[in-house]
Amino acid sequence: MAEYQPETAARKGWRTCTKGDPKLWPAYIRHIILANMCMFVFIGNLYAAGISTGFAALATEFNVGFDKLNDIISYPVLALGVGNLFWTPAAICFGKRPIIIVSMVIFLACAIWSIYVKTLSELVAARVLACFAAGSVESLGPAIIADVYQERYFASAMAVFSLSLSGGSQIGPTIAGFLIKSRGWRWFFILNTILIACNLAFTLLLLPETNYKRLFYEGETAAEVDKSVVNEVEHVKGAEEFTTQDYTDHTSSNVEYASSYFRDLFAFKSRGLENGHTALLKQFSLPFRFVLIPHALFAVASYGVFLGGIVINSLLAPQLLSPPPYLLSSSGLGIFTLGSFVGIVLGYPIAGPLTDLLSRSLTRRCDRHLPEHRLPALMIPFVVCPPGLLLFAYIINQHGSIYSAAVGTAMQTAALVFVPSVVLSVVVDAYPEAGSEALVLINAGKNLIAFGVTVSVPVWLHRVGLVKMYWQMAATQWAVLSLGIPLFFFGNTIQSTPKVVAFGQLANHFFLATLVISEFPRNQQEVWVTKLRAEPPQIANLNCHAEMPAALAQPKLGQLEHSCTLPSLFADLNPQHHSIQRRKVASAYSMSSLISYEPFVDNCASLLISHFDAAADSGKTLDFGHWFRCYAFDVIGEITFGQRFGLLDDGIDKDEIFGAIDARSSYSTFIGIFPWLHQFLFPLQPTTGNHAYVAKYTKHHIALREKLYQSGEEKLSNGSRDFVSKFLDLRSTDSGITTTDIFTTCQSNIGAGSDTTAITISAVLYYLLKHPQTLRKLQSEIDVAVVKESITEHMSFKQSNQLPYLQAVIKEALRLHSATGLPLARLVPPSGVDIGEFHFRKGATVGINSWVAHRKSSIFGQDANNWRPERWLEFEEEGRGAEVEKYFLPFGMGSRTCIGKNLSLLEVSKLICELLRRFEFQLDEQILQKDWTTTNVWFVKPENFIGKVIKRHSK
Ligand code: HEM
Repeated sequence: MAEYQPETAARKGWRTCTKGDPKLWPAYIRHIILANMCMFVFIGNLYAAGISTGFAALATEFNVGFDKLNDIISYPVLALGVGNLFWTPAAICFGKRPIIIVSMVIFLACAIWSIYVKTLSELVAARVLACFAAGSVESLGPAIIADVYQERYFASAMAVFSLSLSGGSQIGPTIAGFLIKSRGWRWFFILNTILIACNLAFTLLLLPETNYKRLFYEGETAAEVDKSVVNEVEHVKGAEEFTTQDYTDHTSSNVEYASSYFRDLFAFKSRGLENGHTALLKQFSLPFRFVLIPHALFAVASYGVFLGGIVINSLLAPQLLSPPPYLLSSSGLGIFTLGSFVGIVLGYPIAGPLTDLLSRSLTRRCDRHLPEHRLPALMIPFVVCPPGLLLFAYIINQHGSIYSAAVGTAMQTAALVFVPSVVLSVVVDAYPEAGSEALVLINAGKNLIAFGVTVSVPVWLHRVGLVKMYWQMAATQWAVLSLGIPLFFFGNTIQSTPKVVAFGQLANHFFLATLVISEFPRNQQEVWVTKLRAEPPQIANLNCHAEMPAALAQPKLGQLEHSCTLPSLFADLNPQHHSIQRRKVASAYSMSSLISYEPFVDNCASLLISHFDAAADSGKTLDFGHWFRCYAFDVIGEITFGQRFGLLDDGIDKDEIFGAIDARSSYSTFIGIFPWLHQFLFPLQPTTGNHAYVAKYTKHHIALREKLYQSGEEKLSNGSRDFVSKFLDLRSTDSGITTTDIFTTCQSNIGAGSDTTAITISAVLYYLLKHPQTLRKLQSEIDVAVVKESITEHMSFKQSNQLPYLQAVIKEALRLHSATGLPLARLVPPSGVDIGEFHFRKGATVGINSWVAHRKSSIFGQDANNWRPERWLEFEEEGRGAEVEKYFLPFGMGSRTCIGKNLSLLEVSKLICELLRRFEFQLDEQILQKDWTTTNVWFVKPENFIGKVIKRHSK
């Protein structure tokens, strides 16, 4: 697919081209932004490192030893790191542009102060404050680059940034050396002042705000998000017609930019991604979430130890090279340091492009993209950089050639382009949504390590000597880089089962146990209002819907502020938007569409029957719950994508779909109860397992269908149309359906339509087997229909709908065992709501648990706790059908009612008929004696529904 070129936006010029998603801005604007950031980071590092060549001059002026002068390097290094912790959260709340400008102004003021200092302590203070300010660009720079460059160019852009950073710290001493020698050390700070002033002017005129709220699918990597954006542009409208406004519309939460370019440059209000001051405290805490993430820890450690090595070199160079035999002056030291810049220049063209290339080729080879694919590029710093330290140490120790020593420092310094461009890209790709927070932690952490190394140098050197100290440093670098190997192989798996999710599941089970007990009051069947929370939830995940069903019906609700995942119908809190979205896809679930899905269902039913036949022949015990799950998933796969999951092939869940779905559902249930935790736990979620499994599966299969569709083969396929092909047809009309809609709908089908249907089939069969007289009654109804209608193969949905007792049995099973076992929650609208004697305030969550509602004796009768399908026939005879329906919630109620209801009834009724006409069932003795065991994790799943099948004589 050709890469999208935002030419349209470019043609519109500066006025509107900075509107919307920065990744779609014209290339020249993005490159100017990169240049500005590079300049800032260059000057910051020039200021921080350059002064090392002036040690001799400073020692003379302030009358102190070289050891004391370490402070003017080590504390500013620490301040650079601490600055990260402050500036990035501030930028999230107030905008990146204002924060960059404020930090530059402080930096400029401190550079001027440095010119006029009178004591060493004053110089240290000025430098600490200046570096604190300049620290803003260390994490905001990469964050801005990640805002404006697509993932595939990120590593290359980062390499330019890293080159500038290293340029500042490596060329800086050369410039400083010459200036100090010819004009004195204060001139070095004058130069810095001039450069920062220019940088500030450029920034004021040429740095638009880049904060932009992008929408992420759960578990998506940055590369995948970029692809989606391009897809969206190309498929929805075609690149020509596309304006970035189209994409902006996806998130109404983004501030409208470019009312006029110059007005934009000076508008500092509402540029944050979060709400100003109030969110500031929260933002400060966010980077620390990453201390548990292996990828971020690896980045901190590897970047830190190499930065430490480079700082040691620049600190020790004046001490080792000023005395005999080398006798280097300030300018000589500068030239020596410049030599190490060669390492950077040589490394630069290899680092970024190599990393990007490696990532792309491994992605092609493995047929999927993983952030860890970049890690093998660390082989180069592993082989080159630590030996550089050893070369330097041995040469200096033996008073060898100064040129060889310079080669050693160059080899070590090359790490500055290789290590960050790999490790930062990995983290930003793995955590696209929270990448800038991770960068804060990494930058602060690496500087902390470098600071630790720097302050310990005098004692360390004194204790073990030069060569041993360098050996220890090199060994540390090798050891840290080696950690990349397990990360490459297992990083993905580690992410799939993060501790925090395991903890979540544990807490979830514990909490749900109490919740279910307290909300399932067998003796207090009149309890209706099941849940009330004082705090309005910030992020709704599974079951926070906007309107009330039945008795809770209420009008409107405030708009969803910000959600970090794409809202499916389930998570859409905006009633108007929900209704528009629902209308777009409704036709695919309509009764007329259902007929076209019947062949898919028949196909899966035949496969299941063949397994049951074989089990009947062998007398094998079957796990009915498992087999119905295989059936329901395969049906949904075939109906949605035209392809089964393959579970009915042999009943084996080879791809561990069930595990992934279960983990996802545990997480969602837990978060549905404690929504405020979502913002902390979600970024720790895997990019490949649980949540992402369904997302990736869905994307992959939509892509396959799309290929077929574009080649024209799709149209030639047989008459049965699956969801995706129907949606692709709709997309080419003016239905308004987008690629994103197709994705969320198909994904919802799997999550919402598989387990629910399997559970319902299990419940029907379980209750029938526990009450054999009802089983006999149903079997004879089916047998009569088979003979009467001369059914040889599969019973049609239409035929099964004409069996009143079958319908009553299914309803009774849905009543006693609704698939969903937690309240169908609704958010109280701004006006508040009265329900019975209670008043609920805005933002409270209220809900009805269908398990409670369905046992209301005043509606369903005194025997509401018992299985008696006949009650449904009686309701009709008594003319109470409509009244009872108001309290019958297995598929929910109101505008949020289950869109797949008819589809699931089709699957259930057809399969039950097929099974009961063919087989007798023998329940496991244990379940016969006692009830079955079920687990409630939003869905109430059977645990031990096992038994045997026997073929019936007549079919
Ligand atoms: C026996 C099987 C099923 C049961 C018991 C069931 C139950 C439910 C429930 C309780 C809701 C929430 C309603 C509310 O909050 O008021 C729901 C919503 C939903 N269900 Fe089902 N469902 C079943 C099958 C299916 C199937 C087969 C599909 C799709 C293929 C599906 C797709 C959906 C969707 C997309 C929604 C969200 C609707 C919206 O918010 O507009 N369901 N379902």
